Amino acid sequence: MHLTTDYMGLALRNPLVASASPLSNTVDGVRRLAAAGVGAVVLYSLFEEQLLREAAQNARLVDAGSESFAESLSYFPAVAEEEPGPRRYLNLLEDAAATVDIPVIASLNGVTPGGWASYAAAMQAAGAAAIELNIYYLPGDPHISGRDVEQRHLDVLRRVKDAVTVPVAVKLSPYFSSIGEMALRLDEAGADGLVLFNRFLQPDIDPESLAVVSAVGLSNPAEARLPRTWIALLHGRVRAALAATTGVEGPADVARYLLAGADVVMTASALLRHGPEHAAVLLDGLSEWMTRKGFATLDQVRGLLSVPTGTDEGAHERLGYVSAMRDANRGLYRP
Ligand SMILES: Cc1cc2nc3c(=O)[nH]c(=O)nc-3n(C[C@H](O)[C@H](O)[C@H](O)COP(=O)(O)O)c2cc1C
Repeated sequence: MHLTTDYMGLALRNPLVASASPLSNTVDGVRRLAAAGVGAVVLYSLFEEQLLREAAQNARLVDAGSESFAESLSYFPAVAEEEPGPRRYLNLLEDAAATVDIPVIASLNGVTPGGWASYAAAMQAAGAAAIELNIYYLPGDPHISGRDVEQRHLDVLRRVKDAVTVPVAVKLSPYFSSIGEMALRLDEAGADGLVLFNRFLQPDIDPESLAVVSAVGLSNPAEARLPRTWIALLHGRVRAALAATTGVEGPADVARYLLAGADVVMTASALLRHGPEHAAVLLDGLSEWMTRKGFATLDQVRGLLSVPTGTDEGAHERLGYVSAMRDANRGLYRP
């Protein structure tokens, strides 16, 4: 079974991509993911907190701009060796890209346009096959308008696009009033890929300890329905490649996303739960399913169950809602 595919102009051996997670935090982790068969790896994100720490440290350094390190590192002012931040990230990126023969995608995580361009350029110089912009921005200030939030995304994208020649993907949150229009605007602004959707750290409250607790929980397959709905709607309506992320546990989840129209399918929770080697289970299962269903190529699968262009998308969604309600009223969900 040939699973080779294109993602933002990158030639992948298959459409399964390991998305950013602690598994892609070390060269050995990236090597294990590649050995398990994934088509590409997204490194864990370089977080804005690190950039801010670095900025604070830079203010204390006198020899900013030192050229004593490898070419890619020269984009950054010298920082103390014990400061992990961007230097550690670029080292990891360089080593990972040199170790595996699949594309290694770097991930930038932040909220402000300023400074992003130089970090993205440094990532490209360090060997990133593409850049994923993980725009983790939850507008806590209730005075910030939706349009402003959208504009921030566009500004970050434009600055990074101006700074690099490698493809740039935007990893989106599902929290826009009109995800479709946001996707179209990012597409027009030159996004090479749209990654739908990120999962945010959402604090919880422990009523026993009377404390706010924060933890990154692993996903479950039901959470894939929201991104899958939007991928099905956007397939054929944007030039950007569509990457699905959230809720892939087994091969059927990969198949579902491809049927909806995803160009690539990303996975993190399942690999954290079962180990990087689970990628081989997903890929073997995908091939087995395609053979069983009589599909010879991914092109035959991709978008087969997307929302056809030319249909009234609103009516399509309402139809789904109406039939779900009809089932509920027929008593299908009664205990
Ligand atoms: C422990 C953990 C760490 C993560 N770190 C990052 C990160 O650094 N950058 C990022 O863009 N996404 C990060 N993610 C999100 C995943 O890449 C992925 O988009 C999300 O978990 C949904 O996919 P899944 O259902 O396959 O886990 C992280 C997820 C988990 C569970």
